[in-house]
Amino acid sequence: MESKGRFITFEGGEGTGKSTQIKLLSEFLEKKGIDVITSKEPGGTEVGQDLRRILVTGDKDKMDAVAEALLYYADRRIHVTKKIWPAIEQGQWVLSDRFADSTVAYQYYGYNKRVPYQTLENLYKLAVGDFKPDLTILLDIDPKIGLSRSLAKAGHMAVKETRHESRELEFHNNLRAGYLEMAKKEPDRFVVFAADKTIEALHNEIVACIEERFNLK
Ligand code: TMP
Repeated sequence: MESKGRFITFEGGEGTGKSTQIKLLSEFLEKKGIDVITSKEPGGTEVGQDLRRILVTGDKDKMDAVAEALLYYADRRIHVTKKIWPAIEQGQWVLSDRFADSTVAYQYYGYNKRVPYQTLENLYKLAVGDFKPDLTILLDIDPKIGLSRSLAKAGHMAVKETRHESRELEFHNNLRAGYLEMAKKEPDRFVVFAADKTIEALHNEIVACIEERFNLK
């Protein structure tokens, strides 16, 4: 039985189906006898829930990329210290819906590099140190498809978490290209999956990757 804690992150633009895939993967791992928890950014902790409301609801121009980067990092610091590290310490696997790559994708690439990359690296060092995900699953989809999926889902929600969805298509195209560039730079950590397929087909691909990577067969 696998007893070493692991940290697996899911990344991607809007409407890639991350949360569905995390749920399915977590059920799969549980069946394998692995002690797994799921979490997300922003909002993986109680304080994080408050930060999430501030960050993802309301007018898209209510704050700029710098303010966003700082708040996402505040959320991340609380998330790692209060939830992720203690869980891993106990041998749990943590599946997180987004982590620091989201800040590079959205606040750096999305906003056309308005926050210097070095600043984001410094924030990472300060808040997270040398800790990194064991694996990052990047779900890639054409933003036109992803955004329409995401906005359709938001239509059924009481609180609309669509602050970033309401940005222009260029923002989303930039962040998608940014993610793919990041994946190329760190091929050992990232695995990219085309997300424009059925839930089941994508789940099967992710499972095959996890089984191989973590020797679960
Ligand atoms: P989601 O959990 O539904 O994907 O929503 C989170 C939103 O916050 C999404 O639009 C991406 C955005 N985000 C950033 O812009 N930067 C970050 O660092 C994180 C974690 C999320």
